[in-house]
Amino acid sequence: MSCIIIVGGFFGDEGKGKIVAHVAHKDKPSIISRGGVGPNAGHTVTVGEKEYGIRMIPSGFVYPGARLMVGSGVLVDPNVLKKEIDQLDVDDRVFIDKRCSIIEEEHIKQDKGNEHLSKTIGSTGTGCGPANVARVNRVAKQAKDLPELQKYLIDASYEINSALDRGENVILEGTQGFGISLYFGTYPFVTSKDTSASQIAADNGVGPTRIDDVIVVFKAYPTRVGEGPFGTEMTREESMDLGIQEFGTVTHRERRIGVWDGEMARYSAMVNGCTIAAITGIDHVDPACFGATDYSQLTEKALEFIRKAEKDIGAPVKLISTGPEMTQIIDIR
Ligand code: IMP
Ligand code: MG
Repeated sequence: MSCIIIVGGFFGDEGKGKIVAHVAHKDKPSIISRGGVGPNAGHTVTVGEKEYGIRMIPSGFVYPGARLMVGSGVLVDPNVLKKEIDQLDVDDRVFIDKRCSIIEEEHIKQDKGNEHLSKTIGSTGTGCGPANVARVNRVAKQAKDLPELQKYLIDASYEINSALDRGENVILEGTQGFGISLYFGTYPFVTSKDTSASQIAADNGVGPTRIDDVIVVFKAYPTRVGEGPFGTEMTREESMDLGIQEFGTVTHRERRIGVWDGEMARYSAMVNGCTIAAITGIDHVDPACFGATDYSQLTEKALEFIRKAEKDIGAPVKLISTGPEMTQIIDIR
């Protein structure tokens, strides 16, 4: 039995979705449940020939053996949810906590129409900030108030804790990244909630004593979308030279790219209580590592990077992603 939290260690888009997918296929959890803010998150998931930008459903959906849940702390946009359920054909195994707060049209309008949010902060325009305001003001609707959501309703906390009691494995999936946490990030250039491991546990109604491991995912070259400080940002020319430009899943904005930030990695690992670190994009550090599946295939240049990262993070790097495919990974857990 184990309960694992997987969160992003930098500014989001670290490749959590891929790590979740891999860990799910290996650990065979009976439940994969999402914490985090809401549909501002975006995971690019490739299914066969098609590429989807998933925003509500846990990215662990690629593992067919798990029930997929959305914890009570998460904001639900019913339109986005419905679309994804249809697209991914997961109607029979998606469950929404009955207490999830609902994003309405007016929240999206407020998010996009508010100069401070849309321009200064550079929000995703998905209504998350204003919906969380409505929730704090205690005027927001809950999932249980919507007829079209009735068939998906569940008490996610009860389901997860019961699964753990039965000795099953559970993955709690975070979204966003540590650097845009409302509490610990680069305020005010942050999202509308904490994004650290404790929040992901709380979003799902799972107590701290039930968590066995916290996997923090770090990108070899961190990225950031939207405004705000980015200590190790490189110029556009530098990222072009390295051939590592990226675009956002939700907003399609070009992501800002930086070099490894050891100080941020250490702080993030501390607050998250990291027990296992994952590094993604090691093939950007040394293209010779592309697609490697065994530690022995890593080059000296990559090993040097990993040793330095381990020192910074203060926890062992046990997952190393070597390419976009789910199987392109080294797992020494
Ligand atoms: P909001 O969460 O839409 O209010 O946006 C606030 C800030 O967080 C903006 O800079 C967004 O670009 C950023 N942000 C929100 N969600 C994500 C995410 O899933 N990945 C990366 N950045 C995000
Ligand atoms: Mg993303």
